[in-house]
Amino acid sequence: MANPKLLILAGDGIGPEVMAEVKKIIGWFGAKRGMGFDVEDDLVGGCAYDKYGTPLHDDTMAKAQAADAVLLGAVGGPKYDNLDFSVKPERGLLRLRKEMDLFSNLRPAQCFDALADFSSLKKDVVAGLDIMIVRELTSGVYFGEPRGIFTEGNERVGINTQRYTESEVARVARSAFELARRRNNKVCSMEKANVMESGILWREVVQKIHDEEYPDVQLSHMYADNGAMQLVRWPKQFDVIVTDNLFGDLLSDCAAMLTGSLGMLPSASLGAPMANGRPKALYEPVHGSAPDIAGQGKANPIACVLSFAMALRYSFDQGAEADRLEKAVEKVLADGVRTADLMGPEGGVPVSTGQMGDAILAALDASL
Ligand code: IPM
Ligand code: MG
Repeated sequence: MANPKLLILAGDGIGPEVMAEVKKIIGWFGAKRGMGFDVEDDLVGGCAYDKYGTPLHDDTMAKAQAADAVLLGAVGGPKYDNLDFSVKPERGLLRLRKEMDLFSNLRPAQCFDALADFSSLKKDVVAGLDIMIVRELTSGVYFGEPRGIFTEGNERVGINTQRYTESEVARVARSAFELARRRNNKVCSMEKANVMESGILWREVVQKIHDEEYPDVQLSHMYADNGAMQLVRWPKQFDVIVTDNLFGDLLSDCAAMLTGSLGMLPSASLGAPMANGRPKALYEPVHGSAPDIAGQGKANPIACVLSFAMALRYSFDQGAEADRLEKAVEKVLADGVRTADLMGPEGGVPVSTGQMGDAILAALDASL
């Protein structure tokens, strides 16, 4: 059988540095586990704009549609802050999500034991934390029409529209319930049904899908503002959280920080199954391009490495190999290997991005 095709879009800022470590790991799985991948690199974000005048070239879009999975680093940077909105680096990423129809964005927040002391919250609040945020990714206020900046009388007005159809809510709800069945069987749905009609519809549809198709899963509903508070107060009350595009953006950053560093958190963005049965899929770290530390070898590659672990699990049906990679990361952290973002107040000498990658490779070798 032909090797699966991976399209790598390392992007901007620290993207290329962290992706370089992932490539070593992809190579390791090829050499040591007989899992070859055909890897192709291309551009997204500011670097694509610099070369083509667009943050995502049509050819790259076509390659993404044809790939078995896309791995993305990060996009954006201060250099691009004043670009016209339509060609900003983020538009490249949003186009990929929209055109690949990646409606279900899985953002796990897991606290590794070795880092429990490192969270800004008390250790007992975060130790052993393992939650999954399922963020709707192709609709809502990110894409709703009308949108724009218009003139009304003698002033301008900025407009964005929160819009959800029943089928959009239903499909992301299903993916949350499916995940919950393989975890601790609990889903909490978050919206603002107290102020938004789209929230009322969201709540009704999630409840209906639950009652008709997943009555065995425990379902609760929460207003998203309360959800943010509960995430910080006692995050272990949650298993799977399902929420819309914008609330999911906010809540997942918040959940990420519970685990100590944004440099740790991976994500999978999944769409409908392709002809080969694999879901359309893009994997990326939750963190951004961190322009302040780009090019200095300071970035933590773990979020990107764990995103590849998610690819092994969700695209390539290699759950055991995904576990192997996650355990290797856990081992490295337990051994005290730390990039700069993981240095506590007691200090110490941080390792570089490349050294962290090598440590993970060594732990993988030791796992055989
Ligand atoms: C994220 C990011 C993106 C988003 C940006 C880069 C467009 O914050 O993936 O969470 O807002 O979705
Ligand atoms: Mg975000």
